[in-house]
Amino acid sequence: MYSLVQKALLKCDPEWSHDFSIRFLKSTQRNFLNATYKQHVDDSPIECFGITFPNRVGLAAGLDKNGECIDAFAAMGFGFVEVGTVTPKPQPGNDKPRLFRLPEHEAIINRFGFNNKGVDYLIEQVKAAKFKGVLGINIGKNKDTPDENALDDYLICLDKVYPHATYITVNISSPNTPGLRNLQYGEALDSLLSGLKNRQQELAKIHNKYIPLLIKIAPDLSEEEVKSIANSLLKANIDGVIATNTTLDRTPVAGHQHAEEAGGLSGKVLTNKSLVVTKQLSEALNGAIPIIGVGGISSKDDADARIKAGASLVQVYSAFIYQGPALIKEIASV
Ligand SMILES: Cc1cc2nc3c(=O)[nH]c(=O)nc-3n(C[C@H](O)[C@H](O)[C@H](O)COP(=O)(O)O)c2cc1C
Repeated sequence: MYSLVQKALLKCDPEWSHDFSIRFLKSTQRNFLNATYKQHVDDSPIECFGITFPNRVGLAAGLDKNGECIDAFAAMGFGFVEVGTVTPKPQPGNDKPRLFRLPEHEAIINRFGFNNKGVDYLIEQVKAAKFKGVLGINIGKNKDTPDENALDDYLICLDKVYPHATYITVNISSPNTPGLRNLQYGEALDSLLSGLKNRQQELAKIHNKYIPLLIKIAPDLSEEEVKSIANSLLKANIDGVIATNTTLDRTPVAGHQHAEEAGGLSGKVLTNKSLVVTKQLSEALNGAIPIIGVGGISSKDDADARIKAGASLVQVYSAFIYQGPALIKEIASV
């Protein structure tokens, strides 16, 4: 039944289908209708960042931007759920259309631009959830915040989400917020990381608990840039890294009717690029900082390859849209 509904949704306008699905999951997640997507996934526990993950597969950020369906995604058997990206103030995101499917490639292009209802709304959703598992909260900056004040936005979100998250992801790699990716380089990265790290230590004392801080990076980086980011992460003693976000590269989908749409490309066509970045990162970090691998993971083999390349855990987004909850079960089994 779920797969029939999913097939029908894949024929409708992408953003309409997305909104419909979120509304459906939100309204059913805590009643008997959750039986339509609930599944049992055997535990295969993994220790990472001082956290025990029940299995290695998580929901990647951006699907549940406002944290409205945490119990639904947990019911599907995800070992962890990452919500957001959330910003200090609500913002509408870019003009529609801003979401495109490329089913021939099991791929997606999006230029949402951090459309979200703001950090306070997300926290209310987290509080309402029954979920007691591993919850990542992914934070970003508002579009109208000047780049030089980006740290202020991250700190506002960090302060607010800290008591409610199992880990916190700092997103500096969305291609849809102008200037954001510049935070991945040199002095800008170092000062961002030290500002975040200092605040994390203060918050750990205030709340009497240490919440790991992860940085999410782009796939569009040279090997030198990956090494330089790795050095900054090591210097700042960051707890983890998520590799990768969506790509600006259109080579793998050249000629497709949507290939020239602006935004980030994700899905199967991203597999190799993300895998290469994970390998380079893993070599540069030499095991000192755990990696969550994401980008084009659409099968157990992809997940195994990502772990072999140095990731400790994986996340999925695009392949989950095309394949549904059965993918979670497939990937979770080790
Ligand atoms: C529609 C869409 C929206 C996304 N929004 C976010 C976001 O808000 N924050 C973020 O960190 N990543 C976001 N991502 C990136 C995903 O979390 C993931 O890193 C990327 O899609 C690669 O994984 P995939 O190939 O499995 O989709 C988004 C991806 C898609 C397709």
